[in-house]
Amino acid sequence: MTVDPAVALTSAVQDALVAAFGPEFAQVDPVVRPANKKQTSADLQVNAAMALGKRLGQAPRNVAAQIVEHLHAPALIEAVEIAGPGFLNVTLMTTWIADAAGRELADPKLGLPDVPEQRVVIDYSSPNIAKEMHVGHLRTTVVGDSLARTLEFIGHTVIRQNHVGDWGTPFGMLVEHLLESDEAEAELLTTDPNAFYRHARQKFDSDPGFDARARKRVTLLQSGDPETLAIWQRLIDLSLAYLRRVYAELDITLGDNDLAGESTYNDELAQICDELQEKGIATISDGALCVFLDGYTGREGKPVPLIIRKSDGGYGYGTTDLATIRHRSLDLKADRALYVVGAPQNLHFRMVWETAEKAGWVQGTEAIHVQIGSVLGADGKLLRTRSGDLVSLQSLVDAALSRAAEVVAESRPDLPADERAVIAHQVGVGAIKYADLSVAHDSEYTFDLDRMVALQGNTGPYLQYAATRIRSILGRADAVAFDGPIVLVEPAERALALKLLDFGAVVAAVGESLEPHRLAAYLFELAQTFTAFYEHCPVLKAQDSTVRDSRLALCALTLQVLQTGLSLLGIATPEQM
Ligand code: ARG
Repeated sequence: MTVDPAVALTSAVQDALVAAFGPEFAQVDPVVRPANKKQTSADLQVNAAMALGKRLGQAPRNVAAQIVEHLHAPALIEAVEIAGPGFLNVTLMTTWIADAAGRELADPKLGLPDVPEQRVVIDYSSPNIAKEMHVGHLRTTVVGDSLARTLEFIGHTVIRQNHVGDWGTPFGMLVEHLLESDEAEAELLTTDPNAFYRHARQKFDSDPGFDARARKRVTLLQSGDPETLAIWQRLIDLSLAYLRRVYAELDITLGDNDLAGESTYNDELAQICDELQEKGIATISDGALCVFLDGYTGREGKPVPLIIRKSDGGYGYGTTDLATIRHRSLDLKADRALYVVGAPQNLHFRMVWETAEKAGWVQGTEAIHVQIGSVLGADGKLLRTRSGDLVSLQSLVDAALSRAAEVVAESRPDLPADERAVIAHQVGVGAIKYADLSVAHDSEYTFDLDRMVALQGNTGPYLQYAATRIRSILGRADAVAFDGPIVLVEPAERALALKLLDFGAVVAAVGESLEPHRLAAYLFELAQTFTAFYEHCPVLKAQDSTVRDSRLALCALTLQVLQTGLSLLGIATPEQM
């Protein structure tokens, strides 16, 4: 049985519609929404009468009255009133809410509704090897990881694909530089990949001999020269050590098995081009093999091509992505293929998918670009260092961790240093992730370290603190189990229970809309609702033991929901803080 009152009310209203107007109304969506709190003290609102009025040729208020007459759900509904043009304002039975909260507490999935299982392929993080991840990759990593966790929690089969950039012309230069490097220089790939890249670049730009060797190396690499491939492999291995460290530090659920870099598609690219040409989808233009699609024009109406083979015979980023969508659809059999990638790449994906569609390479798969907005500095421009580079991921994480350490040192000077370090790490990472996740993934936001580590406001640390505070309340109660029964008397108790019942529906909605910020907003509201409850309703000091047990159960359920919700955002809940 559902714990979601909106679902229960929907089915009660559908029964009433059948009774009032006949079986053909069984599937009508009664449009149940939260009631307008400014106008009524009711909990939910039913909007069905407006649309039905048209269909039945009756006044909506009249339709509403007939629904009410046939609405029989005494365990669920305490009162119904018809308002305005024909809304139904429904007040729920407090005992139904209490019972549902008890069932949610007993459910390991916390009231998550049943959702038909899907196979979801999710491409995220996908940094370029041998270059440091920058702040843009941080956001695709954090958003993608939250989506992967949430979709798995919902029960979908999630296939992660880390489409690292590990191929292409820069690798001639990088391989050549590695060949000429001593151990210390090679080690930079693991510790400071940007420096390695910079050194290679400097040599390339200033030393004509190196330039020539690097260019030759590209050809060797592309022709599969074994010695060159071995050095390339060493370059990749050293770089992956860097990635593994970043993922571990940020608690990102990407492992080696999820790697599916650009190079894995090398053998398919020639065939892809040939097939598109044979099918008449691609044509040669100025020596390059191009796909021209209707509706893609640039300045002065000039058609914008998707170039799949350059005039020098090289393949591009787009060719590889034709291979990714084909693989994800035809081999991995994705119901949904998510590409969690920066918004500026939208045109690229639309052209690639439309081309793949034409070629018959997308079967039963919905390809979705989860667009990631930019992270801005205080000046409103892309976050950059003083020298003009994009801010590196590591420097940003380091800054957040050290600010978090200051915050924890101030709030918990009593704790031993090693415990404080663990908490500071969880708080710092939580702060960064929440800042990324509490904003719609496709909007820009301004990176503000002080704001995001604050213990007050809509921040990760605030939610972590709310959870640890509840944990300490439960720790001080000398009870063994916090399983109720839940009995709701005070309005603040009822409001908290009602809020808790929304969790499953919110998580399911995130799985649909792919918007983790909805979960973040829910958790923030829940924490505030809990605070109001805690101000009005003594828990440990409650006189009556029934009341005390019930409030402890509400605390336990709130903790569960906060902790689970934060974990879906990839945020740990510290033991204490
Ligand atoms: N490596 C690319 C970048 O850093 C992102 C790759 C995204 N995934 C894809 N299938 N194109 O911009």
